[in-house]
Amino acid sequence: MSVDSVLFSPAALASPLTGPLTPVHPADHIPGWWRSAVIYQVYPRSFRDLNGDGIGDLAGITAELPRLAELDIDAVWLSPFYRSPQRDAGYDVSDYCDVDPLFGSLGDFDAMMAEATRLGMRVIVDLVPNHCSDQHPAFQAALTAPAGSPERDMFIFRDGRGAFGEEPPNNWQSHFGGSAWTRITEPDGAPGQWYLHLFDSSQPDFNWDSRAVHDEFERVLRFWLDRGVSGFRVDVAHALVKAPGLPEWGGRADGSSSDGFPGRDAPMFGQPALHDIYRQWRRILAEYGPDRILCAEANVDPLPRLADWVRPDEMHQAFNFPYLHAGLDVHRMRHVITESLTSLDAVAAPSTWVLSNHDVVRHATRFGYHGHAPRDGDGIGTWDPQPDEDLGRSRAAAASLFMLGLPGGAYLYQGEELGLPDGIDIPDTQRQDPTFARTGGARLGRDGCRIPLPWRAGEPNAGFGHGQDPWLPQPESFARLARDVQAASSSSHLSLYKRMLELRRRLDLGRGSLSWYEDLCTDTSLAFLNGSTLVLLNVGSEPLELPAGRMLLRSSTPPEAGYDAGDMAGAGDPLGSGETVWLEIYIEDTEG
Ligand code: BGC
Repeated sequence: MSVDSVLFSPAALASPLTGPLTPVHPADHIPGWWRSAVIYQVYPRSFRDLNGDGIGDLAGITAELPRLAELDIDAVWLSPFYRSPQRDAGYDVSDYCDVDPLFGSLGDFDAMMAEATRLGMRVIVDLVPNHCSDQHPAFQAALTAPAGSPERDMFIFRDGRGAFGEEPPNNWQSHFGGSAWTRITEPDGAPGQWYLHLFDSSQPDFNWDSRAVHDEFERVLRFWLDRGVSGFRVDVAHALVKAPGLPEWGGRADGSSSDGFPGRDAPMFGQPALHDIYRQWRRILAEYGPDRILCAEANVDPLPRLADWVRPDEMHQAFNFPYLHAGLDVHRMRHVITESLTSLDAVAAPSTWVLSNHDVVRHATRFGYHGHAPRDGDGIGTWDPQPDEDLGRSRAAAASLFMLGLPGGAYLYQGEELGLPDGIDIPDTQRQDPTFARTGGARLGRDGCRIPLPWRAGEPNAGFGHGQDPWLPQPESFARLARDVQAASSSSHLSLYKRMLELRRRLDLGRGSLSWYEDLCTDTSLAFLNGSTLVLLNVGSEPLELPAGRMLLRSSTPPEAGYDAGDMAGAGDPLGSGETVWLEIYIEDTEG
């Protein structure tokens, strides 16, 4: 249904809403399924464990895909399931074209693809081209080959500084803490060269100046495209190429400007030659038809630079991390939304929106604080101020309803549809994120957002798996929040997700337009019109008066506690603190 043909209620037509609008983004008529898609991130090791080893597997994903289909999503994106020593939960790949036995086999992958296709969902896989595992045969070959050899040239080996080469080649720091360089022992037993790893020492960075690296990844792309995937989420897509000469840099590998974003001059990020790589990959995808996509995980600052990743001949989408980091600060949200849509419209690319993923504290936990979550992005411990779970969940519902009203694509992270909080009480001995060990526990890392999912309240491990304990302990609240409990309740978080995703599709909001509705954009509220739908978020401590005579389409508050779809807002009806509504609107722009 086009946004223009959404039904107006007679009452609304009779009383046009007047008020100034600031148009930002027109409706999108460019073909491409991804431009408005809702893509659900599956983190395989925490999704569903069918073989009972305490770690999720591909067969578990296949078994539960029908539950995801109920959410009316377009695609699933799978975090890595490739062969890997699992030093960084699979982002340390030792064979890009095989499934790690922990998760199953290529046959299990094919069965999962077939089931997803049967259910009308596409599958996107993770591509990790910046680095591999130190157990990858190419790196093992580099270790035994001499300095200057073609084998070493696939990675970034350098001689050390100092009289005996005992100092790292430059001052770059690893994203996970500590130096970004590790010294090897040469085959003859002598202390040798150093190799670069922007992440863990078990994750050597590839040298993208080497033709062999390009050839290898083109082979990997084709391998998965031939198996039917609809595309790739490209890990640390901003980092593959490093500045010539590897100049010194004062910040961490992930930079030091703001909100975890790279400084804009960081020599390990955003180098111009990156874009030729993605242009070449786009040409390869195009050989498979118009529906295969690339999505950049590119942490770039400032936001308009993100548009460089999604020019018409490069990637199709890029994650919008500035939106994730804007929290519930309505001024920042407005700025990021406006800047995203205008910058991306300039290159005819759709925006994407995201609130949670496997690298950040879940939004149901981040929003459970009055003020900022402590150590946002680095996990929360038992000694930190604790979030209010109920507050966090209801604000998370409001944030998600607001986000899903925005035009463009949206990414959901497994478990957010259940309003899951982060796991906080994780024994140090069970923490697996390399950040924890590399910083001596100063940064807890990302295990808290990776806790195995609760499926069925009455079963062991809340239905995650029937065998060994899950690889990370589930918080007590997980049984209460299990999917089967929520599926049986019309007022649950899950039911809200189902209702909003269904209406988002029916109203085609992902293809819609955006204009700020200025009368309801205040210091504590934000309102935009997408076609005929007014999306209104109140983050203030006081209720906000709803525009009267409008039909309520969706509310982030469960029906018995607030409004129900189809209610008419009356004069003076309030929108509570931390709530979002979608209203059906007929609006007259008094500014002409
Ligand atoms: C992934 C992380 C991973 C890192 C290194 C990222 O951005 O999302 O989970 O640790 O890349 O591969």
